[in-house]
Amino acid sequence: MIIDQAYESIYNGANVGIEAVIDQTILVLRYSLQIISLLVLMGLLSIWPAIVVLSLNIFGYLMQSLGNRWYANHKNAQNRITSYQEYFSRTLMARENGKDIRLFGMVPLFHHYQKNLAKRLVRWEGHYSTVLAGVNILQQLFNLAGIMFTLLFLISEKSLTIANCIFFLTAIQVMNTNFANLRNAYTLTSKNLTFVPNFRKFMDTELDLATENKQNVIGGFKQLTLNRVFLKLENNTILKSINLSVSKGDHLIVVGENGAGKSSLVKVLSGLYGPTRGTAKLNGIALNSINPQSLQAQMTVQFQDDILLHFTIAENISCTDLKRTNYQKVNEVLRQVHLLEFVNALPNGIETYVGNELSANGVLVSGGQKQRLLFARVLYKQADLTILDEPTAALDPISEKNFYQLIQNELATKTVIFVTHRLGSFVKKGKIAVMSKGKIIAIGTHDDLLVNCELYREMWQAQRSLYTVGD
Ligand SMILES: Nc1ncnc2c1ncn2[C@@H]1O[C@H](COP(=O)(O)OP(=O)(O)OP(=O)(O)O)[C@@H](O)[C@H]1O
Ligand SMILES: [Mg+2]
Repeated sequence: MIIDQAYESIYNGANVGIEAVIDQTILVLRYSLQIISLLVLMGLLSIWPAIVVLSLNIFGYLMQSLGNRWYANHKNAQNRITSYQEYFSRTLMARENGKDIRLFGMVPLFHHYQKNLAKRLVRWEGHYSTVLAGVNILQQLFNLAGIMFTLLFLISEKSLTIANCIFFLTAIQVMNTNFANLRNAYTLTSKNLTFVPNFRKFMDTELDLATENKQNVIGGFKQLTLNRVFLKLENNTILKSINLSVSKGDHLIVVGENGAGKSSLVKVLSGLYGPTRGTAKLNGIALNSINPQSLQAQMTVQFQDDILLHFTIAENISCTDLKRTNYQKVNEVLRQVHLLEFVNALPNGIETYVGNELSANGVLVSGGQKQRLLFARVLYKQADLTILDEPTAALDPISEKNFYQLIQNELATKTVIFVTHRLGSFVKKGKIAVMSKGKIIAIGTHDDLLVNCELYREMWQAQRSLYTVGD
């Protein structure tokens, strides 16, 4: 909602938002000057009609203020509705959602939500229109009262000449119009001023990448330690008292049931989430005080839900533009993940675009190919610390085996933290942390855990039974 509202406050053109505040403020000044000139002219002839018309217009202005206050007080409700509508539009427009929405016949569900939102919006607009209509009627009555008073006043003063009559009626009309314009400009200004706090709220939202308190620079990776780390997100305690230490050259495997907190742990280890309690340190320095560039230089992370961007294959791997990309290295890592042949057969080789947002000839890759390209990116970077969150979920068995070999050969001297559900031969070689319900319940080698950790034993046996013929 904060983002949608900030967007509304700056991208709606001159009629809405911050730009409108500036435009309308200039108009307010202009109309005020015109009104002052008219009042002076009227006052020179007769002071009372000028005072009464001015007072009545001030009443009109106060009525308008009530309308504006209604708007400011209820704008949030409208924002909430439009923000929901934005979500539905974004979701419907996203290419990747198309297949699910069609195949599961979800259009009526969207329609149902949209219809309800439209109804709520119409109801809101209805209330607002009623308030505006009330204000408008009262203002017209005030205008009429001003004219009536002036005519009666001229009669009582016995000065109802044709010249006076034309002058006062015209002056009152022009003044009322100017007042109406002034009120509209004022309404628009105050209406649009409600956007300003939204914009400020957005600008004040703390950006975790802010560098002032992130000055520490780290050299090569030595050790990553979590000490009694808790992570609470939206009132959910997701990680509970995690103690973990990973030193240079370690290969740590993290296993555990769905929802145990593995991906959340990865986000803490990579500095994306700061611990709610406890400390997360890299080389003895708090992760959240390390300069982001310095941190990024030391680690590479492949997330469970990572995506390829619609850039070229080479750019997706090097994460920089083609000029600064080392083509030889890109070819080498593509060969390692067994994609070089596939890529070479494409019309523009490694300069072929992924997807079709930026190029009509872009290549659409399969789920497993995507995962292999993402791993090629990890191999290209060769960071001291590599964190992988289920990087083999989409791989076929041969690719998976190749993947383990690559970790052992190419990342042998690097530190690797690897979240997986596949308890294959690979786990027999490293140290394993078992997670359950936000805690690390055991750490040890495969053989230790088979003896000491019931959950691990259960997971191992369940998986083994899937692969052992006749079991
Ligand atoms: N941003 C968030 N806000 C609130 N709760 C969250 C958030 N991210 C994750 N969770 C919750 O934290 C719990 C752990 O999620 P997490 O993704 O870390 O599990 P996981 O061990 O990686 O599971 P899986 O094996 O399915 O990938 C889940 O119950 C999830 O609902
Ligand atoms: Mg996960």
